[in-house]
Amino acid sequence: MQNQIIKERTERTKWYLHDRFGMFIHWGLYAIPARGEWIRNQERIPEAEYMKYFNEFNPVRYDPRQWARLAKEAGMKYVVLTSKHHDGFCLFDSALTDYKSTNTPYGKDIVREYLDAFRAEGIKVGLYYSIIDWHHPDYPHCSDQNHPMRGNPDYPDEGRNFDNYIKYFHGQVKELLTNYGHIDIMWFDFSYGEMSGEKWKATELIKMVRSIQPWIVVDNRLEASGSSYGSIVSEDPCIYSGDFASPEQMIPQRGITDVNGKSIPWESCITLNDHWGYCAADRHYKTPKMIIRALVECVSKNGNMILNVGPDAMGEIPEESAEILREVGRWMRRNSDSVYGCGEAEFAKPEWGRYTQNRNRVYAHILEEDMNATILDIPQERIDKIRLLRDRSEIIPIKPWNVVSMAGQTVFRIGAGNFPLPDESDTVVEITLKND
Ligand code: GLC
Repeated sequence: MQNQIIKERTERTKWYLHDRFGMFIHWGLYAIPARGEWIRNQERIPEAEYMKYFNEFNPVRYDPRQWARLAKEAGMKYVVLTSKHHDGFCLFDSALTDYKSTNTPYGKDIVREYLDAFRAEGIKVGLYYSIIDWHHPDYPHCSDQNHPMRGNPDYPDEGRNFDNYIKYFHGQVKELLTNYGHIDIMWFDFSYGEMSGEKWKATELIKMVRSIQPWIVVDNRLEASGSSYGSIVSEDPCIYSGDFASPEQMIPQRGITDVNGKSIPWESCITLNDHWGYCAADRHYKTPKMIIRALVECVSKNGNMILNVGPDAMGEIPEESAEILREVGRWMRRNSDSVYGCGEAEFAKPEWGRYTQNRNRVYAHILEEDMNATILDIPQERIDKIRLLRDRSEIIPIKPWNVVSMAGQTVFRIGAGNFPLPDESDTVVEITLKND
């Protein structure tokens, strides 16, 4: 009998695997130093020194309705915001700590404003919650491998009560799932070494999560990270294995399958430059073409892509990021039928690009020009019609004298001579197969 956990995971992720494309938002105190969200770890900044950012945090240009409109324009169907990152700063009005946005000069509940704004745009909402917490006194300091005070004998771990931290962590997750309405995704981050699974009391946690919001889609990082998948790929995944695997800053070569080769839900999380949190000096942005092709690659392998923005200390998404998302949106406006509801095609990857498929509609993503014609390894007798997706103009198969092998293939040219392609990033041709 198919594992109950797999059955429930399959049911829960139906909308998620249809929507394919999300926005990740990494935002917090680290936007002020503007050197990325791991700055406390990298520069070994003591808590007292980091407090200056807490006392200064006042993002007066924070307008989540603008963020939501940009996500919608880009074609993003869901969003995940850091409610608390590794530095322990809470962007929500938690009753369990004073280290929260409502106690900063900004004075408001950022998470609540974010949820209201994105729901108003019809975008499904998620919360990222760091299970790592460098602010909490009961989280390991000196002995931990990631803590800013790691290896520092002035921060001994004797007397720290980890159970207190677990109560705090679980209590905050309960607050987020009880006080903020319907949440679609919970994105935990991340497990490492012995800090994994039952160390977090993950069974108790996931039972609590599912008792409050049983529909919520949860990632795999209660037992894994960006460099491991956990038991989600096994044929008997544990109760906290999550609903999707979360490869990071890469796209798995052949997607992600379980030990029996069956595709499982997965999502590549990708930054627009090289940082999750705002980094003023980082101008190493990917191009819209790279983003479009990365999204299509994920979908062609049955995966999702969540693309990150890191707002600055004033609450604004960097203009470079916004411009890339607007350009991606221009492509999505004409071609999103080849993304939403699509997955791996029944046909092998072609030389010139990729296929995605949604039932009897196959989408040829032509990424490389051919000086002669485009050849589909799809027999013409299987094809009902071919259209250029961007304008639904008819494409008629041809039998050019110079194409020798034709068996099982269909040949066409786009426009007068097949190049230049109408869309340099990705020209999509929709092939409607005859119903068998
Ligand atoms: C890694 C980073 C963390 C980031 C996450 C996003 O876990 O440590 O800063 O939030 O990736 O997937």
